Amino acid sequence: MKRSFIREILESIDGETISFAGGLPDESLFPIEDLRKASDKVYENPKNLQYTISNGITPLREKIADFYNKEGFETKPSNILITTGSQQGLYIIAKYFEKKQIVIEEPSYLGAVNIFKMNSMDMKTVPLKSDGIETQKFCDAYKDAKLAYLIPDFQNPKGTQYTETKRDEIANCVMQNGGYILEDAPYSELYFEQKLKSISSMIPENSFHLGSFSKTLAPSLRIGWIRANEEIIRALTMIKETIDLHSCGISQYILDNYLEDSARYEKHLHHLRGAYKEKMEIFTDALKKELSEFVFDMPKGGMFVFGALKGFDTFKLVYECMDKKVVYVPANQFYLDGRISDEIRFNYTYSTKEQVTEGLKRIHKVIQK
Ligand SMILES: Cc1ncc(COP(=O)(O)O)c(C=O)c1O
Repeated sequence: MKRSFIREILESIDGETISFAGGLPDESLFPIEDLRKASDKVYENPKNLQYTISNGITPLREKIADFYNKEGFETKPSNILITTGSQQGLYIIAKYFEKKQIVIEEPSYLGAVNIFKMNSMDMKTVPLKSDGIETQKFCDAYKDAKLAYLIPDFQNPKGTQYTETKRDEIANCVMQNGGYILEDAPYSELYFEQKLKSISSMIPENSFHLGSFSKTLAPSLRIGWIRANEEIIRALTMIKETIDLHSCGISQYILDNYLEDSARYEKHLHHLRGAYKEKMEIFTDALKKELSEFVFDMPKGGMFVFGALKGFDTFKLVYECMDKKVVYVPANQFYLDGRISDEIRFNYTYSTKEQVTEGLKRIHKVIQK
């Protein structure tokens, strides 16, 4: 199995390298003070440091269920399994469907592809367009597989937000054929215009909806969740018990305390969306100015801008860029066939304005050679 190239890049970065590679949030936007207060409270009760239940502490599952209920997607705490990041959620689901066929977007999230490979799943790819997956091709492939992995909200790597029509078409296809979709939604709260209804909410019995606090609060908490029907949640909990007994109790209690004030969390999300929209505009303006050869779609949310440098093999190019102390992720990493690609995924949430201008100038110098 291919080692994650993104990990390799992240490990090779020194203090002088400007990185547009990882999907890292902006550290200055972590609500440190509020998390510190929430954390102090955890240590007031030694029971909070004890072993806890495998599916996650009840008050946190209640709060997560409420996120869904507020949007009209009826959910009980028993529909929620708390996981160690959504990455673990993906692993648990893949174990549940070990060796089965699965339809995935092309390009797709490398972290999921590696999990599917490790669980001997047979992946069938369907091209992802700028408004979502090609639905006719999707449904043809889904009829056989009856299982699909999709990231409809600001996809990683492409940043695509599926249109409402495509969401409806996919839900209809699942309703007609049975089976399940895995809807991975770590970026769903990071919208700049509007949040669209999840596909899972249209097919509650036939879906796994994955959420995470990594992109909205802090990734090192390592807390995510799966929303699915109760029977499946029970089966997934048994798989989880073989991995880690339960996700970190301290992190769960910190989050539970923090989320007690739901209006404060809403305010934080609102601030985050505004700040990331501004960072996206800074990045895309700089792209037009410093790297005008790069052709891209304007992101509507999330953390990435994706596009092409026509005529370049961006995998070869990234090694030259590394020498000049700037990195990005070449898109061949996101295609199963490892094709030569002229596409790039840039992360725009992590770097400062100065780093963005300087980093893109460095890339421009490399391509001019
Ligand atoms: C699409 C997608 N799914 C899942 C994850 C894993 O996130 P976490 O385990 O931090 O919740 C990521 C991380 O970047 C991602 O981009």
